[in-house]
Amino acid sequence: MTCLGKSFNLMTFCIFINSFLVSSQNINERCGKDFGDCVPGKTSCKNCDLGFTGTVKAECDSGKQWNVVQETCVSQGIGRLLQDLSSEPKKDVLDLMPESFVNSAASGSNLSLYAASGSAASESSLSLSNTVLQTVDACSAFSISCAASMVKVEQTTAGNIASIVNILNLFLRDFPGDVTKNKMKYYSEIANHILNESAVHYWSLIPNSIGNSSALLHYVNEFANTVNDSSINVTEDFIHMKGFTITKQIKNIDFNFSMWSNSTELTGSVSVLKDAFETLPINFPVVAIAYPTIGEILSNQLQNISLNGFVISMALKANSSKLSLTFQKKTKSKANAQCVGWDMEEKNWRSAPCSMYKESYDTATCRCDHSKRFTSFSILMSPITMEDEALNYISFVGIGISICSLMSSLAIEGLLWGHITKTEISYMRHLSIVNIAISLLIADAWFFVGTVLYRPDIVESDACIAATFFIHLFYLSLFFWMLVLALLISYRVFMVYHNIRKSSLIYIAFAIGYGCPLIISAITVVATITQPNKPYVREDGCWLNWTESKAMLAFVIPALLIVALNFIIVLAVIVVLLRPMIGETPRTTERNIIVQVIRCIAILTPILGLTWGFGIATVIENSSLAFHYIFTILNAFQGFFILVFGTLMDKQVREILTEAFSSPKWISFLTKNSSNTPVCSHIS
Ligand SMILES: *[C@@H]1O[C@H](CO)[C@@H](O)[C@H](O)[C@H]1NC(C)=O
Ligand SMILES: *[C@@H]1O[C@H](CO)[C@@H](O)[C@H](O)[C@H]1NC(C)=O
Ligand SMILES: *[C@@H]1O[C@H](CO)[C@@H](O)[C@H](O)[C@H]1NC(C)=O
Ligand SMILES: *[C@@H]1O[C@H](CO)[C@@H](O)[C@H](O)[C@H]1NC(C)=O
Ligand SMILES: *[C@@H]1O[C@H](CO)[C@@H](O)[C@H](O)[C@H]1NC(C)=O
Ligand SMILES: *[C@@H]1O[C@H](CO)[C@@H](O)[C@H](O)[C@H]1NC(C)=O
Ligand SMILES: *[C@@H]1O[C@H](CO)[C@@H](O)[C@H](O)[C@H]1NC(C)=O
Ligand SMILES: *[C@@H]1O[C@H](CO)[C@@H](O)[C@H](O)[C@H]1NC(C)=O
Ligand SMILES: *[C@@H]1O[C@H](CO)[C@@H](O)[C@H](O)[C@H]1NC(C)=O
Repeated sequence: MTCLGKSFNLMTFCIFINSFLVSSQNINERCGKDFGDCVPGKTSCKNCDLGFTGTVKAECDSGKQWNVVQETCVSQGIGRLLQDLSSEPKKDVLDLMPESFVNSAASGSNLSLYAASGSAASESSLSLSNTVLQTVDACSAFSISCAASMVKVEQTTAGNIASIVNILNLFLRDFPGDVTKNKMKYYSEIANHILNESAVHYWSLIPNSIGNSSALLHYVNEFANTVNDSSINVTEDFIHMKGFTITKQIKNIDFNFSMWSNSTELTGSVSVLKDAFETLPINFPVVAIAYPTIGEILSNQLQNISLNGFVISMALKANSSKLSLTFQKKTKSKANAQCVGWDMEEKNWRSAPCSMYKESYDTATCRCDHSKRFTSFSILMSPITMEDEALNYISFVGIGISICSLMSSLAIEGLLWGHITKTEISYMRHLSIVNIAISLLIADAWFFVGTVLYRPDIVESDACIAATFFIHLFYLSLFFWMLVLALLISYRVFMVYHNIRKSSLIYIAFAIGYGCPLIISAITVVATITQPNKPYVREDGCWLNWTESKAMLAFVIPALLIVALNFIIVLAVIVVLLRPMIGETPRTTERNIIVQVIRCIAILTPILGLTWGFGIATVIENSSLAFHYIFTILNAFQGFFILVFGTLMDKQVREILTEAFSSPKWISFLTKNSSNTPVCSHIS
């Protein structure tokens, strides 16, 4: 059954036809024409439709529907192509094919000849099997262009896909080197056919799906590795390929891809890092390949894994090199995407060869080690981890406790207001605590609003901007009221004989407590929103941006400055109080209140400062998860700390409350007790 294709000027070719018998031996006796009765839980099989060999396996689901779980239906055309290719090495025939013929055959689509004769063969198998067709239009399986044209008209079935993967393998075997640009193009077209978005489902029906999809990546990469022409530029729908030749002059290569995936356009790029670049052999092509659908094909089998970008492969003639890959995320998300490489040996995604270099809401840049074992890379969808859920939980519970604490604090202050604000200094002190509590309460409320309104798909929504503005404003107020408290104390301690009217003190307190924060937060929002590349809001929530515009500094710097200032004031006041004989000293009653306030500042300031110290640590890349936990806990419980150290630690408040709760008629006690003078006692 050998046919001599001799090329005269006329270019006569012949086709030999192996009879591809779709006779009874291909039909699985155990499987019938259909699945039979559907009893839930039952599995069954049937033979493929007419024109296909193989079987279809199905399971009966609870709804009494047959679910196809496996399918090996190979069409006649693909079956014959596979058989021809695998029958014997065809290199000699390949070499006889002039490129011009290959091209003309590829452009013409008179392949029906092959297919038609094939089906004829199945009907009267022996009569046609030695037919020699002499025609220029004829096409032989040994020509990759013909194979591509034939494959492209075939119906998509799981059996066909597995066979086409095998055909790619056979072509790889038959081209031991010097793959031309055209051959690469046809090879890609074959691969493109089975990478079609609408074929994804069929891949999961292949008995060894992972093996086949992994093999596809491998074959395409190996084939590209032998290409001798760097000007390849494949732009099929489901596979893109770009080539480049490394010369002495070139110092850098990068490949940018842009493809459509599920009707959204995605981009991806790959470059060889500078150090690795110098180790690449000179004058050899380097080829980069991008696949938008293969991730989904692989995901079908690896069910807990979902890719969030292209898969990008590199064909490099080097044992190992370092690549930089940037993937645009399919599903936009906050941090925690994972860079992975496909392990050809273990047939799974591994994070070992890769590390995250930079990540934003939209893209992730990975550094990956390319080797024989790892040639293809991508990013995994950031999973909702246990840690995230735990943090969210802590955060919500903590803020709930915070809000309750602040309300209790305000209630206590309100009830006891007449009793605890007799002197000017205690009045100012409680005024500050009440405003600290109100600021934090409003900030917490906006924090809730921000969490509810946050939409990862809408960048800088108005609602999110508003939430961010108010959270910024009121968190700052919290710090500025702490400052008011400290300034008040230093005013009483250092300027004993100075008298500012109480009303003026209140004006000054409000100007500092709310005026300064308002100015800072207003400037921040105006300065960032009016500039195009300086986002105000961060990508992963309604809070000040850090990565791009560093807007968060407008919170962190004032806050930490106040923390530092308060420390200095606390130290200075302690020094003065410890040397009561020297210089001006405040009266004893005031002294006690001052000591209380100083204690309050000395405890609350570091707690707030520490909270935001950890807050900064969490925005630094790759910071330990422990920081996130500490920050979330401290942040969430701030209100609780204010209740305990701001309100309850006040000696008067405590005394009134203990007495009140120990008396059965505590409400009447409250009204009667209003003439009590402030209780002064020694405070260590
Ligand atoms: C196929 O070949 C026939 C003659 O052999 C020709 O008439 C026809 O145009 C060809 N079809 C195509 C699509 O090239
Ligand atoms: C993908 O498959 C669909 C349906 O089979 C087909 O209409 C479409 O042309 C194919 N796309 C490519 C690029 O082959
Ligand atoms: C592809 O799947 C078929 C079965 O469907 C299997 O026989 C073959 O070995 C698989 N190919 C690879 C490379 O794993
Ligand atoms: C690649 O190899 C083919 C023959 O195998 C040759 O005709 C072609 O010129 C080569 N291309 C380049 C760019 O070297
Ligand atoms: C590659 O081909 C596409 C479409 O065929 C074209 O738009 C693009 O410019 C080509 N790129 C190069 C580098 O030739
Ligand atoms: C790829 O994109 C980057 C940034 O968008 C650009 O600097 C580079 O020149 C592009 N490379 C090519 C080969 O187009
Ligand atoms: C493609 O988009 C549709 C609707 O937009 C969605 O239902 C489907 O899950 C998407 N498929 C993939 C693989 O992302
Ligand atoms: C997926 O699940 C398998 C076992 O069910 C596990 O071994 C593997 O680590 C999981 N992969 C990921 C990325 O979670
Ligand atoms: C790759 O490694 C093999 C041995 O493991 C060595 O023979 C070969 O020269 C190396 N190739 C390159 C390009 O470094």
